[in-house]
Amino acid sequence: MAKLPELNIGDLNIPVPIIQGGMGVRVSLARLAAAVANEGGVGTISAALIGGLKSNLTLDDSTVADIKELIAELRKASTLTTGVIAVNVMVALTNYSALVQAAAQNGAQIIVAGAGLPLTLPKLVEGTKAKIIPIVSSGRAADLICRTWLKKYDCLPDAIIVEGPKAGGHLGFHFEELEPESAMPDLGNIVSDVVQVAAQYGKNKKIPVIAAGGVTTGKDIAAMLKRGASGVQIATRFVPTYECDASDIFKEAYVGAKKEDITIIKSPVGMPGRALNNDFIKRARRGEVKFKCFYQCLKTCDPAKSPYCIADALIQAADGNLAEAVIFTGANGWQTDKIVSVKDVMKELVTEAEANL
Ligand SMILES: Cc1cc2nc3c(=O)[nH]c(=O)nc-3n(C[C@H](O)[C@H](O)[C@H](O)COP(=O)(O)O)c2cc1C
Repeated sequence: MAKLPELNIGDLNIPVPIIQGGMGVRVSLARLAAAVANEGGVGTISAALIGGLKSNLTLDDSTVADIKELIAELRKASTLTTGVIAVNVMVALTNYSALVQAAAQNGAQIIVAGAGLPLTLPKLVEGTKAKIIPIVSSGRAADLICRTWLKKYDCLPDAIIVEGPKAGGHLGFHFEELEPESAMPDLGNIVSDVVQVAAQYGKNKKIPVIAAGGVTTGKDIAAMLKRGASGVQIATRFVPTYECDASDIFKEAYVGAKKEDITIIKSPVGMPGRALNNDFIKRARRGEVKFKCFYQCLKTCDPAKSPYCIADALIQAADGNLAEAVIFTGANGWQTDKIVSVKDVMKELVTEAEANL
């Protein structure tokens, strides 16, 4: 039986080529990230609104609160693991730059940036050892990032994450590419495109390509490695675990979910998103949700035109207040039937991947 290859990101040697995808708001914090890192993968803390959304704060106050909490989670992770910890920051966040700088200066070994094109990311981590990984949904986006970074900063990504249409959270695709399922572009094909772009730019230094979105089983991992990926990013599969940082009520919603419960929503971020259908989403679609915006936390949100506040709905989700929540999930979010340990998930993924290589 073949052994899973280790994943090399710059000088970081990651024994198991699995990155736990960052999950905001407050779904993947130090506890989940450290548990994955302890099993040899990369654990990711999501920085999105990590300090919460408090009605009496300004944007500057909330950035201070986010940075304080992010540093606290990074410190906590360092007490729980000696493995590799990443921080995920969405480009669409108004305080994106401040959060990237804080993460890089406070021990994040990797910065992952998606939900927008992270064209200035190299500048934000200057003077630190943090590795930088953009998330893309096409070969074209990978090409644009590599070309821009090379020209402006004389550097290339340390790896590239390819997020396909089956991912959870915000999706870099048009609505027509997401429904029906038969319209979805194939993740393996996008991975192949990005592997070609990475090979073209990474002549002197290999740029590993990581496949994400609907990678749920070890068999899926083996299939992505066969398409040229050097590793995978997995998020949804890590929600129904003891170590996931969200409320148990949130985790239970996944366990009870059926395939037909998963829907595509229009997020105020300006992108489609995938979530478990619930009363809140139905009310939002009918324009019945009342909310007040205290400060603009997302660059691309227009509160006057938004049917609800996505930040608040995600905070309510992780807190277990599902009546007011958007519960993000990947397309395979219905496939788990119980809450288990991260150790068990990782063991199953590795054993099954190795059997299928
Ligand atoms: C609950 C949830 C929250 C997420 N939050 C973020 C986020 O804050 N930033 C981000 O870049 N991606 C986010 N994602 C996307 C994941 O990091 C990941 O790339 C994707 O979901 C992978 O597909 P999978 O869930 O099918 O494994 C989120 C996904 C889920 C399910």
